Amino acid sequence: MFRADITAAPSIGGRRSNRAHTIVSTLWKEQAQDMAQTKPRVFSGIQPTGGTHIGNYLGAIRNWVDQQDMYDNIFCIVDLHAITVPYEAGDLLERKMDMAKILLASGIDPERSILFMQSDVREHSELAWILGTQAMFGELRRMTQFKEKSGGQESVSVGLFGYPVLQAADIILYDAEKVPVGEDQKQHIELTRDITIRFNANFGETFVVPEPDIKKVGARVMSLDDPFSKMSKSNPNEGSRVELRDTPSQISKKIRRAVTDSGSEVRYDENEKPAVSNLINIYSLFARISVSEVEERYAGKGYGDFKKDLAEIVVEGLRPIQERITELDESPDEVYRLIDEGRQRAEAIARPKMERVRHVTGLTFTNS
Ligand code: TYM
Repeated sequence: MFRADITAAPSIGGRRSNRAHTIVSTLWKEQAQDMAQTKPRVFSGIQPTGGTHIGNYLGAIRNWVDQQDMYDNIFCIVDLHAITVPYEAGDLLERKMDMAKILLASGIDPERSILFMQSDVREHSELAWILGTQAMFGELRRMTQFKEKSGGQESVSVGLFGYPVLQAADIILYDAEKVPVGEDQKQHIELTRDITIRFNANFGETFVVPEPDIKKVGARVMSLDDPFSKMSKSNPNEGSRVELRDTPSQISKKIRRAVTDSGSEVRYDENEKPAVSNLINIYSLFARISVSEVEERYAGKGYGDFKKDLAEIVVEGLRPIQERITELDESPDEVYRLIDEGRQRAEAIARPKMERVRHVTGLTFTNS
């Protein structure tokens, strides 16, 4: 079987020998090309920052899972992005493992999707350097995420500044057509498009220009303590977000304490009732019913009843994921194996693409 060929390929010092690598690459390349011919390719990434919350889940992860059969999927745990802010090495390793378990437990299926660690595929860094020469200082300085993350800090790393360039490299290295993300990433995808169009104009058509895939509902889950700011890992108030690893009692407590608006009606109105509207969105996404169905269910009832049920729905929605995480806690070797297999499949696409980039940019120096 195809898969058996891959695992049988000899490995030298953790990396495969050239010949074995060529065989593996060719096999995966053929498969990748087959898939690419039938289904459009999607690429998306998530940082292993710890504290993964229902905003990440509803805005990104669950859509990746739901759409797995529609696309040729590549999902990446972006550890190189995570190191653009101060961190500890041991901590990062734990968070990478945690994120791999969360994604697998949420339903990312290695049979249908490539799942891998960004830093395992060296081509991401190489392409990011080259794209950095095509990105403008002024356009990076305007990035909202950079302004937010660097605001108030004495020293800001060059890595944080170049973050969106690495993100562009992630996406176009695989010629992804679609990038399923939450609303906050829209600006980065637009920048990716600009850089790609510029590169193609300078060096000839080399990359596919990707499009964002941002859903109408769920793309911007707001904080439980402030309906005007998005739910985020960086909010120091843990009560502002429900994390995927929260216990049922933590979830209930956080939802009970979530801010609401004046009045008592459970009605969707982003202007008059931003906090309740956010909770209604969360309810409708977890229950997989429309916003108006939620309103109908709670007609004549108050916030108390609504929040109690919402807590139950979120607890039940997360339960199967949490159970699978517990199972994976028992088998870390399996997680390492799956992620390494993802690395091989990603490399098989990234390597030839990067060779082409080296060629068109005049970097390849050989007489063959
Ligand atoms: P990250 O790790 O911050 O977030 C992962 C995904 O979660 C979405 N998200 C939200 N969606 C709805 N409501 C929220 N409150 C919320 N908070 C986060 C994000 O939009 C994202 O889709 N730069 C990316 C990581 C990245 C990437 C890529 C994404 C690196 N390379 C290439 C796509 C393609 C990020 O910060 O993700």
